[in-house]
Amino acid sequence: MKTFNTKILGTGSYMPEKILTNDDIAKRVETNHQWIVERTGICERRISDLSKDETPSGMAARATMKALAAANLQPNDIELILFASTLPDQVMPNAASVLQHKLGITNLCGALDVNAACSGWVYLVPMANAMIKTGMYKRILVVGSEMLSSFNNWDDRNTCILFGDGCGVAILGRAEDNEESQIYSTVLASDSTKKDHLTLLAGGSAKRITIDMLENNEHWMTMNGQEIFKAATKTMASHCEKVLADAGKTLDDVNWFVPHQANLRIIEAVGNRLGIAPEKVIINVNKYANTSSATVPVALDEAVRDGRIKRGDIVLLAAFGAGLTSGGILLKY
Ligand code: UT7
Repeated sequence: MKTFNTKILGTGSYMPEKILTNDDIAKRVETNHQWIVERTGICERRISDLSKDETPSGMAARATMKALAAANLQPNDIELILFASTLPDQVMPNAASVLQHKLGITNLCGALDVNAACSGWVYLVPMANAMIKTGMYKRILVVGSEMLSSFNNWDDRNTCILFGDGCGVAILGRAEDNEESQIYSTVLASDSTKKDHLTLLAGGSAKRITIDMLENNEHWMTMNGQEIFKAATKTMASHCEKVLADAGKTLDDVNWFVPHQANLRIIEAVGNRLGIAPEKVIINVNKYANTSSATVPVALDEAVRDGRIKRGDIVLLAAFGAGLTSGGILLKY
């Protein structure tokens, strides 16, 4: 069977306009700018405004229009929408279908939501790659879009400082025979022994929201930060080593590393473990904090648009999140 290589045809991102600084948060909980910057590298984050439709699907529509322009494509050229979100607009209809509507797509393309927490977008790229490789689709929109501010407990200083809203997308497509772009190798994993370290249990089928639950503040995210920190560092580094080994490449071949942006100390620890030069690491956690499944595509899009990542560059991507899910990708842009 003839197979095809996958190319990133275009990327896009959208960040809400409203900026929430560390000083703003310090007005509500006992914290301060210096502590947050020293422990996380985060200076500010973006917060969605529902009156501007900065929902996961609303942000995704704006980011996708930028990606379509970059790829010189029209909305109806998209053949499948894969949408990662930890908490999409609503339970039904799925955010991917709402996005299809907002983009004005009339070709009835498939539209699927996936929740793998912060690893969601990195999970969907290998799936899109497999479908492009086999010839099933030629152009797939892969979205990571999150409005974490809606389930962030703004009275809990352990979690509220860490998260922000935003969206990143990429349109993956079939590379021409004379093009070198490709996805070399990918890895997906989940360590469910650590599933209780990052949770939001209320609001699903097993634990429906009740008045008691709201009064007891059980409808917010809870996190064991130190356990996540340790697991994230180890897992992202080992995934990077695996995708490099599977592709027969070394760190010297890598032009850029785009890690999940959760905490600058985690990014630095992964970089140190791997031994990658700091100037090859794309970082924007200072501006946006952790936007879950959006961090990797947003960082990728910014680096493509400002000219750091160029055609032919080899890019290493890695993510981790609740589950604890994780993944890694090695590609030639
Ligand atoms: O996508 C995955 C999402 N989650 C993550 O990536 C989380 C990964 N973990 C982390 O980023 C870090 O563990 C945190 C930033 C959450 C915490 O940093 P840490 O260096 O592990 O701090 P800690 O939890 O050990 O807390 C140290 C101290 C504690 O006080 P005591 O017990 O030493 O008196 C905390 O109560 O800092 C205190 N603390 C704060 N102080 C000021 C915790 N949060 C804050 C805060 N401001 N916001």
